[in-house]
Amino acid sequence: MGNIILLLIFSYLIGSIPFSLLIGKIFYKVDLREHGSGNIGTTNTFRILGKKAGIVVLILDIFKGALPVYITILLAMDIHIFIPGLVSALGHVYPIFLKFRGGKAVATGGGAVLAYNPIVFIILVSAFLITLKLSKFVSLSSIVATVVLIVLSLFLQDPLFMAFAIVLGFVVIIRHISNMKRIKDGTESKITFM
Ligand code: G3P
Repeated sequence: MGNIILLLIFSYLIGSIPFSLLIGKIFYKVDLREHGSGNIGTTNTFRILGKKAGIVVLILDIFKGALPVYITILLAMDIHIFIPGLVSALGHVYPIFLKFRGGKAVATGGGAVLAYNPIVFIILVSAFLITLKLSKFVSLSSIVATVVLIVLSLFLQDPLFMAFAIVLGFVVIIRHISNMKRIKDGTESKITFM
């Protein structure tokens, strides 16, 4: 039991690390919260700091979602693998280091899915990229990938995966309300490179 509590604390703390903010402040002297969408996620990192920083943050944010799941599997811990993955994603959204004001859980939640089932991850990335190609909105692509995750979870007949998908999906969609309002108002920024 003690090990599981430690794993969950570790999952929350690693999820709470705001890699984008740290990279922005240390290497670019920029506080991402004051630029672009104000979000501390991969998209705003690409938008404000450029491709190099965006790719690094994407990898680190995926990693912090995947690591707790891999640890759970490798140490054969007596807890369902989704719980540490979900706790890490919640750490990203509600980080203790930033007064609980964090990101939108897309890359970190994706990392947990990647560690669980790479095929599901590839399906989500495909849904994301197709929507991005058609709409040019990263936020809409994230929402569509989240809906695909929930639908897939209904087919995989794993009640805990379903619970993970629904809780994560709920958080991701709630965190994208401002993006949805901007899409409706015509003020959401589009990507230009696809
Ligand atoms: O993963 C976050 C993305 O879907 C939207 O980011 O910065 O446009 O609010 P942003």
